[in-house]
Amino acid sequence: MPTDWEAQYQKNETPWDKGTPSPGLLNFLSAEKVSGRVLVPGCGAGHDVRALCQGGAEVVGLDIAPSAVESAQSFPAAGKERYICGDLFELPRDLRGTFDWVWEHTCFCAIDPMLREAYVEAVHTALSPQGNLLAIFYLDPQNDGPAEGPPFEVTVPELDSLFFFPRFTLIREWLPLRTYPGRENREWMRLMRRSWTQALPVSRLPQNTCATALCRCHIPP
Ligand SMILES: C[S@@+](CC[C@H](N)C(=O)[O-])C[C@H]1O[C@@H](n2cnc3c(N)ncnc32)[C@H](O)[C@@H]1O
Repeated sequence: MPTDWEAQYQKNETPWDKGTPSPGLLNFLSAEKVSGRVLVPGCGAGHDVRALCQGGAEVVGLDIAPSAVESAQSFPAAGKERYICGDLFELPRDLRGTFDWVWEHTCFCAIDPMLREAYVEAVHTALSPQGNLLAIFYLDPQNDGPAEGPPFEVTVPELDSLFFFPRFTLIREWLPLRTYPGRENREWMRLMRRSWTQALPVSRLPQNTCATALCRCHIPP
């Protein structure tokens, strides 16, 4: 059953919302700048959007649930943010290829794993050539038994096979030092860069058998 995100917000059943930005994001922003245009897919109440704005970025928070967008809009503006109610998989044409950064946090783990290739495609389409994908992936949500619903786990090898070269180049990856309580050692951060190539469906790109090796080579920004 696909998750009815709007119903979750209407019932006020939003356990993912910790009321603060992702600690991993805050840690990154304390050392490095995220500037230009940023997309935050599945932004929820917009805590990460506002954190990104405070550094001067122009941030678009996108969420499929109208009540999430309403909640995000109810907070005082932090800078140049705006919120759009929409589906990441049907990004409005005028937004495609316009983002310098995408910040991923608990959107990837929320979508059906069958849609992961479509997720990679959607993020690639949103970014400008050489745009950055900064992400925190929830490796181990510790669902009881077989996961029937989100959050869905992911492994690092699966990330390698989804975000493969030449579609994305891995710049660096790390275990975040700061996390929400209880998520210690269960998240993984990555900074990846979109290639210059046009957005091709994953199935039309040659399978690069060296992808994993290339992904480990930590090419400097
Ligand atoms: C687990 S919540 C995380 C929200 C927020 N990132 C946070 O950490 O508080 C996942 C969010 O993704 C949104 N979402 C799910 N599928 C989406 C889609 N296809 N396009 C845009 N947003 C989506 C949901 O409405 C929900 O707000």
